[in-house]
Amino acid sequence: MLLKDIQTIFHKELDAEYGSHEVDSFFNILINYYLSLERITLVLEPDLNLTKTEEQPLFEALARLKNHEPIQYIIGETEFFGLNFKVNQHTLIPRPETEELVELIINNVASIKVEKSLNILDVGTGTGCIAISLANKLPNAQVTAIDISDEALQIAKQNALNNEVQIKFIKADILNKDDIDSKDQKFDIIVSNPPYVRNLEKAEMKKNVLNYEPSSALFVSDDNPLLFYKAIVEFTVDNLKENGLLFFEINQYLGQETKGLLAEYGFKNIQLKKDIFGNDRMVNATK
Ligand SMILES: C[S@@+](CC[C@H](N)C(=O)[O-])C[C@H]1O[C@@H](n2cnc3c(N)ncnc32)[C@H](O)[C@@H]1O
Repeated sequence: MLLKDIQTIFHKELDAEYGSHEVDSFFNILINYYLSLERITLVLEPDLNLTKTEEQPLFEALARLKNHEPIQYIIGETEFFGLNFKVNQHTLIPRPETEELVELIINNVASIKVEKSLNILDVGTGTGCIAISLANKLPNAQVTAIDISDEALQIAKQNALNNEVQIKFIKADILNKDDIDSKDQKFDIIVSNPPYVRNLEKAEMKKNVLNYEPSSALFVSDDNPLLFYKAIVEFTVDNLKENGLLFFEINQYLGQETKGLLAEYGFKNIQLKKDIFGNDRMVNATK
C-alpha cells in the first residue's frame, strides 16, 4: 500500500478522537520509529510503496491508538529534556511540566554552597527522568533515586545506562520510615513528583491516562491528598542539609495547601510556580 494511503486511513480512523494535527504527529512518529522515514518523505515521496511487512506495525499501532493507548507505550520510548527514555505500563510517561521542574532545579543549583559533590535525591523516580536529566546536566552531582516499584526501577536503571549516567537506585517506600532511614548521607537537594491526583479528579482525565498509566504513580485519596508531600517533608527533617533545597511538582489545585505544609515545617523562601499552561505546578523552598 502507498504510504500516503495509509496516512489517509489513519486520519479517517483517528481524527474524530484526536484531531488531525495530533494524528499527523502520531503518523510521523510511527514511520520514523518503524521505518526510519523522516516526515519530509510524505512530501517528497508520496507514492512510496510499503511492503506488507512494513505496513504491519503501522496498522497494529493504529488499532492500539484507537483503543486510546498512549503512543509512548506503543513505541516504548519518549523524549524528556533532550534525552531518550524507555517507558512501559509500569512507568508514568514523563510530562513537559516535569521538564520545567528539572529546569527550575538547574537554575537554582548555583545558589547552593557545595562542599565536594552535590547530593541529590529523587523520590518516586519512575522512568528516572528527573534523576537522569539532572545527572546529565550537573556533572558534579551524586544522584540517588528511590521508587517503590521494582518494575519502574528496572526501566530507570536501563535508562541510566542508555544515557550514560551513574545513579544510585534504591527500592524504598517513602511512606515507611524503616525503609528510608538514611544513616549515611544528607542531601543538598531533594526533589519529587509524587502521586498527587485525587480520585475526585478522575472525571476530568482522558482515557489514555486512566486506562493505561499506572494508578500507583498517579492517585491519592480525596481526604489525604498531601500524604506523599508530608512524608517527604518529614524525611527532610533529618536528611536535607541546612539551607538545602526542596523541589516538588504539585497538584495544580493544592498550591496553597502545599505551601502551608512547608511553612509548618519551617521552610524559607517558599515559592509557588506556574507551568507553561498557567497552572500552579511547582513549589520550591529552602530548609
Ligand atoms: C507521578 S510518578 C513520577 C515518576 C517520575 N518521577 C516522573 O516525574 O515522571 C510517581 C512515582 O512514585 C512512585 N511511588 C508511588 N508510591 C511510592 C512510595 N510509597 N514510595 C516510593 N515511590 C512511590 C511510583 O511508582 C511512581 O514511579
